[in-house]
Amino acid sequence: MSPFHLTRTLPEDATDAALRADVLAGLTGMPKTLPPKWFYDARGSELFERITDLDEYYPTRAEREILVGRAGEIAAATGARTLVELGSGSSEKTRYLLDALTELRCYVPVDVSESALTQAGRALVAQRPGLDVHALIADFTEGLTLPRTAGPRLVAFLGGTVGNLLPAERAAFLSSVRELLSPGDALLLGTDLVKDERVLVRAYDDAAGVTAAFNKNVLSVINRELDADFDPAAFDHVALWNAEREWIEMRLRARAAQTVKVQGLDLAVDFAAGEELRTEVSAKFRKDGVRAELSAAGLDLTHWWTDGEGRFALSLSMVRRA
Ligand SMILES: C[S@@+](CC[C@H](N)C(=O)[O-])C[C@H]1O[C@@H](n2cnc3c(N)ncnc32)[C@H](O)[C@@H]1O
Repeated sequence: MSPFHLTRTLPEDATDAALRADVLAGLTGMPKTLPPKWFYDARGSELFERITDLDEYYPTRAEREILVGRAGEIAAATGARTLVELGSGSSEKTRYLLDALTELRCYVPVDVSESALTQAGRALVAQRPGLDVHALIADFTEGLTLPRTAGPRLVAFLGGTVGNLLPAERAAFLSSVRELLSPGDALLLGTDLVKDERVLVRAYDDAAGVTAAFNKNVLSVINRELDADFDPAAFDHVALWNAEREWIEMRLRARAAQTVKVQGLDLAVDFAAGEELRTEVSAKFRKDGVRAELSAAGLDLTHWWTDGEGRFALSLSMVRRA
C-alpha cells in the first residue's frame, strides 16, 4: 500500500454549504466580515507561500529559527510516534521536526487546502520512504477525527495560525485539541508575539503587494464558487493594528459605492464608498496569556522558546494529569 493517503473528512457539499453560510452571514452582517479559511484555494495557498519569503514577513523565519534550535528538545520531551499538524500548508518547516523525531511512524497533515496537502504529502513520501503520511482535508475548527495511529502523539499548530481565531473560537478550538490528546501527548503551538506596531503592520502590508493579492483572492474565490461579480480592483487592501485587542486586522475597503451580486446566494450586497470588509484577524500574544488559554483548556505549558529577537514563540504543553 502507498505510504501516502489523502482522506476528505467532510463531503464536498459540506464545504460548499459552509462557504455559502459564511458568505451569507458575513456579507449581510454589520460590519461585514469573512473567515480567513476561504483565502486558501490553490492560488491562495501559493500566495501564502510567497508571503513567507518576503523580507517584511518575519514570523516564518523566526519560527524556523526556533525549530532549528529546539527540535531535538521537542523530540526528547515528547518521544512522539505520531505527528499531527493542523493547518500544515506546505509542511516546509515541519521537516525540522520530522528529522528530529526519531521514533516517528506517522505524519498526519490536516488542512482545508487539498492542493497544499497533495503537493506537500507527495514530496514528503518521496523524501522519507519509511514514513506513513496520512493527509486529512478537514476544517480544524469542526471537531476532527484522527486516524488510529501509534502514540504518543504530538499535535503541532505552527505559523501563528491560532491567532486567526477570535478569542471565543480559540477557547473552543483549544478544548477540542485537548479532547484529541491522551495523557503523555503534547501540543506544540506557534504564537506571534506583541511587538512594535510598525513591524507588525509592515508584515501584513508588504511593498510588493503580495499580501494585498492574497487578501483580494478571497473575492475571486467567492466569484468562482458562488457566481459573484466582485471586482478585486475596486477594493483596497488595508492592514491595521488594533491596540486594544492586540491583533492585526486585514480588511478590504471599497474604493467607491458599489453593489455586488452573488448569484449563487441570490443576494445583492451594497458597499458604501470606504466601507470595509474584515477578512482576517491575526492576534499577537504574550507568554502569560498563552499559558492561561492553554490552562483553561486543560493543558499545562511546559516549555516556552522564542527566537533571538523575541518576535515569535513556540510553546509545548502537555495534557494535565487528573
Ligand atoms: C497561515 S497559513 C500557515 C501554514 C503553515 N503551517 C506555516 O506555518 O507556514 C494557515 C494554513 O492553515 C490552513 N487553514 C486555515 N484555516 C483552516 C481551517 N479552518 N481548517 C484547516 N486548515 C485551515 C490554510 O489552508 C493554510 O495552509
